[in-house]
Amino acid sequence: MAASFQSTDEQSDGLRAMMTLRRRFETHAEKNKRKVTVSDRKVIAVVGATGAQGGGLVRAILDDPNGGFAARVLTRDAGGAKAKDFARLGAEVVTADVDNPESLTKAFEGAYGAFCVTFFWAHFSPEKEMAEAQAMAVAAKATGLRHVIWSTMEDTRQWAPLSDNRMPTLRGKYKVPHCDGKGESNHFFTDAGVPTTFLLTSFYWDNFIHFGMGPKRGPDGKLAITFPMGDKKLPGIAAEDIGKCAYGIFKKGDEFMGKTVAISGENLTGAQMAAVFTEILGREVRYNNVSPEAYRGFGFPGADDLGNMFQFKRDFEDHYSGARNPDFARSLNPSLQSFRMWLTQNKNAIPLDEAAANA
Ligand SMILES: NC(=O)c1ccc[n+]([C@@H]2O[C@H](COP(=O)([O-])OP(=O)(O)OC[C@H]3O[C@@H](n4cnc5c(N)ncnc54)[C@H](OP(=O)(O)O)[C@@H]3O)[C@@H](O)[C@H]2O)c1
Repeated sequence: MAASFQSTDEQSDGLRAMMTLRRRFETHAEKNKRKVTVSDRKVIAVVGATGAQGGGLVRAILDDPNGGFAARVLTRDAGGAKAKDFARLGAEVVTADVDNPESLTKAFEGAYGAFCVTFFWAHFSPEKEMAEAQAMAVAAKATGLRHVIWSTMEDTRQWAPLSDNRMPTLRGKYKVPHCDGKGESNHFFTDAGVPTTFLLTSFYWDNFIHFGMGPKRGPDGKLAITFPMGDKKLPGIAAEDIGKCAYGIFKKGDEFMGKTVAISGENLTGAQMAAVFTEILGREVRYNNVSPEAYRGFGFPGADDLGNMFQFKRDFEDHYSGARNPDFARSLNPSLQSFRMWLTQNKNAIPLDEAAANA
């Protein structure tokens, strides 16, 4: 029965009551709608989330709140500053270690997908990398993940077998240990029947900041970048763009399932990179082209591995650069940076020998 009101005052009291009820109902409905939206998001468990590749993916997910995905940050230190920052921004943070298979299974539980990466330079062991990749594949299978991106690399021995004497065999069974172990690990994901996209990444331009590869003073006092690449192209990428491309792959759904995709931001020769340095830094930077033998002999930890890696990229340029098309990477990540864009943003972070800089 409809309410009947005796007077104007009573009528307006009744109206107010109805409006209040309606507002309460709408607020409740809105809350429920939000709850459904959150629980509908596909959770991506991100290995290496506080690092370069994984961090880019977490930021890409957080930057797109209506994109249908939620980020789960895997870290060995949930109390660390980076993990706390991500938690503040809305990511779930869980403790996991790729060397602890149980922790991986727990961390993957209930997720839709995972981004898997290993950390060669933390231990220099391809065998350890392979064990970690296997543990991630096993955990992905056990938890029924529907899409895994495995950040891999070429097993260079498919192009340069151990019998190829152009470059030395290292540790008895590798040409480029930090790439070969990743490539050899691909089968763990396929053997386990994990729906996987195999992501071939490129040289991070961030190595000019963090890996000691920035311009250095030569015997002539001039700044130079040093690579054993001859006049061949070195595909490179802003590390942050790797995660953004990975996000693009997850968003495409089934399109790249079971496929290998290769990404780079720009493929440039050493001379071309030096020209961009010269332009953006406003001081001359040269390209110091050395032989792979000389590079292997530089003596820093991993110099032989990197010397072989650059030689592989040089000697198999058609395959290596040919596979990495920046236009494809841009289709996954429309804000993909060129080297010029990256350097313009990061020029002040590159450690420069000021004596040389002013020479
Ligand atoms: N540099 C290049 O040009 C380049 C190019 C292509 C590929 N790569 C490959 O990229 C890989 C490294 O990826 P990245 O650069 O993203 O790494 P990164 O920036 O060094 O970050 C590593 C992160 O992973 C986490 N981590 C380290 N060990 C872990 C473990 N045992 N279990 C769980 N998490 C661990 C750490 O987080 P917590 O401390 O929070 O746990 C750390 O923040 C290497 O294998 C390298 O070969 C490098």
